[in-house]
Parts: sequence; C-alpha cells; structure tokens
Amino acid sequence: MSKPRDYSELKNELAAEYARHSPKSAALNERAHQTMIDGGSHSLRLIKPFPPRLVSARGAYVQDADGHTLLDFWQGHYANILGHNPDAITSALTRALQSGYGLQSGFTDQLQIEVAEILCRQTGAERVRFTTSGALATMNAIMLARAFTGRELVMKVGGGWHGAQPWGLIGVNFASRAKPWDIESQGLPSALAREVVVTRYNHPDLLRAHFKEYGNRLACFIVEPFMGAGGFMPATGEYLRTARALCDQYGVVLILDEVISGFRFRAGNLGALYNITPDLTTLAKAMGGGMPVAAVAGRADILKLCGREGGGKVRFMGGTYSGHPASMLAAKTLLTYLVEHENEIYPRLAQLGAQTRQTIEDAFAAEGIFARCTGHPNDVLRGSSMAVPQFPYDEEQSLSSPDDVNDPTLCDVELRDHLFQLALLLDDVHVVHGGGALSTAHTEQDIARLGESCRRVARRVRKY
Ligand SMILES: Cc1ncc(COP(=O)(O)O)c(C=O)c1O
Repeated sequence: MSKPRDYSELKNELAAEYARHSPKSAALNERAHQTMIDGGSHSLRLIKPFPPRLVSARGAYVQDADGHTLLDFWQGHYANILGHNPDAITSALTRALQSGYGLQSGFTDQLQIEVAEILCRQTGAERVRFTTSGALATMNAIMLARAFTGRELVMKVGGGWHGAQPWGLIGVNFASRAKPWDIESQGLPSALAREVVVTRYNHPDLLRAHFKEYGNRLACFIVEPFMGAGGFMPATGEYLRTARALCDQYGVVLILDEVISGFRFRAGNLGALYNITPDLTTLAKAMGGGMPVAAVAGRADILKLCGREGGGKVRFMGGTYSGHPASMLAAKTLLTYLVEHENEIYPRLAQLGAQTRQTIEDAFAAEGIFARCTGHPNDVLRGSSMAVPQFPYDEEQSLSSPDDVNDPTLCDVELRDHLFQLALLLDDVHVVHGGGALSTAHTEQDIARLGESCRRVARRVRKY
C-alpha cells in the first residue's frame, strides 16, 4: 500500500450505509446526546457516526437494537475469557442473588479472602488489595511506589494506556514523529509533566539510557508485559529482564500492569512466564469474570503502606464498592474455573488466536493489500489470543513498539482504527482499534466468517 490516502469519500459512503443499516441505534444515539457527552461514558465505545446500541450478549455474539447479531471480538474490552455472560458465572450470580447475597456492600466476608488467596497463589504476590477499576489500581500502585521510595518520577512507555488517572494521561496518543508522546489531558497538576518520563517499548538501550539519566530520581517503572491499547505486542524477554535488573540497580519499583494480560495468557500473571518477579502487579479485566474488580498485588512491604502497619501513609483505602460481594463471587467463580481448566483453555485460545491472525493476513493478501497482524506470541509468550491487523507502508517495517504502529507515516492508522471497524460493522462483525481478543466461545466458523468479512472490506478499500 502507498502512503496516507484520502479516505473521506469511502468514509462518507460507509457512514451513509451504516445509518441505513442501523436506524434504531442511530435514533438512540440522537437521544443519548441529549443527556450524555458524546452520547455515552467511555470514548472508545462512542465511535463515529454512532455505536451499535446493545440489547443482549451471549458467548461470541451480541445483539443490537436493530436486531443484528454481531460477532464480537471486543469482548468487554478484552476482559471476557469465556465469552459474554457465560453460564458458569451467570448461574452462580443468579443463585446468590436469589438467596439474599450479592448487593450488600459495606461488609467483608469469606469470598474476598478466597479471591485474594487465589490471586496470591497464581501470581506469587504476598498481599493483595482490591479496588474497582484498572485506573484506580495503577494510580494506587504508583502512589505506593512513590511513598515507598520517597521519589517523584514515574517512568512509563509511550503508547502505554494505564487508565484515566493522572500519571496515566501522559504519553498515550501518538502526537508526531519529532515528539511522539505528549500530555493528553488538561486539568492535571502542572508538576505532572515534569514527573513522568516516557520511554520506548522493547528498546533496552533507551531504557538503560533513561535509567542512567533519571534512575536515582525514579519511583517506579510501570510497563505492560503485553502491550494492549498501544498495539498488541509482547515484551521481549530481554526488555523485561533489563527492566528488572535496572530497577534493582537503582532501587526503583517495577510495576507490571497486567490489567489486560493477567489471566489472559495463563491462569495467573504473565510476568511469571518471563521469570520476572515484579514488585507490584495491577490486575483487572479478566479476573473479574465480567464484574468491576481490580487489584494491586505484590510485595507486602510496599502494600503495607496503605494499612495500619505502614501507618496508612498511602490513602489507598476507600471504595464503597471495593471487594463488592457480587464481583467477588464472579471473580472467584471465574478464577477457579480458569485454574481448573488451564490446560485446555489457554492452548485453545492460542490456537484460535493464531488462526485469526493468519486468516486476517490471508484475507487482505488475497485482495492485494498487505496486512500484518500484531498480537503474535514470541519466544517467551508461547501463545496469544489477541489480534489486530496493521497496515505498514513498508512490508519490512518492525512492529514491536507503539511508536511503530501508531505513526501514520509508517502505518495506515486510519484504515486500522476507523474504516476497518465501520466496514466490518456493516457485516455485523465488531472490533475496536481494528482488533480484538478471542474467547473460548469463539469457533473456527466465526474466524472463517471474519476472514470473509475482511475480504469484503479489503475489496472496498482497494477501490480507493
Ligand atoms: C493495561 C491497562 N491498564 C489499565 C487500564 C485501565 O483499566 P480501567 O478501564 O478498568 O480503568 C486499562 C484499560 O484498558 C489497560 O488496558
């Protein structure tokens, strides 16, 4: 493919077709705009011209207000390992709610202990504290690290998304080649810009240079062992080993943000596959079984700073719905299931992932468009259930960091992020950022259908 093209005509054509395809969702969108900013509350879901409005979901499929049954690869922001509304979890929740258990928050009970025990056992953490979103988990992990080290600086990866919290809102969206990663939000304390160091994923040399310059002032390095929103790529073994060694050398807290990767690639944390012991791990998404659960897990001597023994120095202590009983029940049910079926679930997900990546690449190739998926495993991560097509202008382009796949002069970002999604929706297939995650509810037939849809999309794109 040649360099950036003007897709405005195709975009208009797709938008008009989509409006005819989904009139009820269009009408609901109009209504939503009367009361909600952009018609909703999570900007990724609020695609242009309007998102499909959901009425139900089961397994690999969701139904929208227009009666379409969409094949869904978004799967709850990649949270669903067993697909939407799996029986194992919905039946446990139904039974509990009918027996008078589930919506009583404000107490604590045995379930929290059981979930914490599973997390410690499966991730090697010494202690766990629950919260309700990934953003709160990463924010509190950073606060713990800053208090523990008495240092100010936080290092993160350009393109890494750690949730909508102050330190996470720097260096997320690609800005320009000269200054790739910028501050994303107004309203933040002005000092924050000076407190966040942005480094490059899978670049050990730059990491060494950054530690040399900032190491003695760094509180923590927060990094995903599998890059999610930044572009679906696993860290190389060398990169994470270097990060661990440098953190040890400079007394820096290593936070592995496993909000996506935790329980997605194995029944536990991904860090374990790298033979890396992080100081703290943040978990959310998959571990909640579809409910809002998140956790900071890791070293007792760091986590205790938010407890009595540590003088309650870090106010990681509120949360009306922290450890919510219905959420804990969903988490326990799912985590127990994943642990018991680990040997079937993860190889199956890996197989479906490999098939999906191959199918997408083949479909585009058959129509003369070069697409290379990210989400492939590497020599540490042996299988992966994640896939997103990238459209690099140079077929040899390295795709190992967010800087590679989000630079519109290197890859056709517009095609991946917007056109592909809208064109697939016309075929009742749902992806976000062009990609998605497999669940055990997906089948080979679903992947074949995705392949056919990709070919139709490719044919449309080729015309322009
Ligand atoms: C790696 C990572 N960390 C943190 C978050 C924030 O999680 P939440 O959306 O639950 O606040 C996300 C969300 O996508 C994520 O992918």
